[in-house]
Amino acid sequence: MFPEKKTIVIGNWKMHGSLQSNEIFLEKLLSTLEDLNSADFFCGIALPAIYLFQFSSRLDNAPFFIGAQNVAQWEEPGAFTGEINAMMLAEFDCKFSIVGHSERRKYFGETDKLVAKKASNLLKSGIIPLVCVGEGQQEREKGSAIHFVKNQIDEIASCLGSDLLKKCNFAYEPIWAIGTGNVAKESDIVEMHGAVKELLVQIMGEVPAQNISLLYGGSVNAENVLSIVDQENVDGILVGGASVSMETFGKLLEKLAGRRQ
Ligand code: PGA
Repeated sequence: MFPEKKTIVIGNWKMHGSLQSNEIFLEKLLSTLEDLNSADFFCGIALPAIYLFQFSSRLDNAPFFIGAQNVAQWEEPGAFTGEINAMMLAEFDCKFSIVGHSERRKYFGETDKLVAKKASNLLKSGIIPLVCVGEGQQEREKGSAIHFVKNQIDEIASCLGSDLLKKCNFAYEPIWAIGTGNVAKESDIVEMHGAVKELLVQIMGEVPAQNISLLYGGSVNAENVLSIVDQENVDGILVGGASVSMETFGKLLEKLAGRRQ
């Protein structure tokens, strides 16, 4: 699991990065984290898989973790051109992987059943799944956002079973908030996170449910981060656009570190 009692900050680079710019980012991230070493947040970056090696070779005792953004639905090596399985990811210090991001659901037709299979593959290789759920604009407008998200989790739970579900973490990412600058209202985040936690308690009981981290994602940046992470049942954030450069990501980390001083 992700460390308890720490605010979890996961960067989602999506299809970003280059060998050269990654080096600059790494240097700056390491020096920023060193400066902020009293901060009690846990930082991870979900990289395009091709860059895991570059980062993994520089991780010696580094205070952050690397992860992937996707994994193959197949466990074993096989004739699946272009795919990368969980065992391969694990070889490169990949500690967690996003699964079921709304962009994967939209562009690659990923269903909750498939997301559950991918999460199960990750767990077999010792990688923490960070399962994304979230409603679209339509469900939000119709007032069915909570129902929609609970259905997603129910479906994943019924495929995975509660023992494996206990080992997953979740990110609530309303689709209409991703990359749009329209961050969800604090009251909506609190309501949704409360509903998700309640559902997890129903499925697996109080103690395991409390150990699951529930992140918010969707247009998080240095300006709005504090108003989000201090909400009830928000264990951290999944940050897309603001995580790809240290100019914006560094500011966000500084805000988080500063709030406890
Ligand atoms: P965003 O992306 O922060 O750019 O909205 C979040 C995500 O897609 O995980």
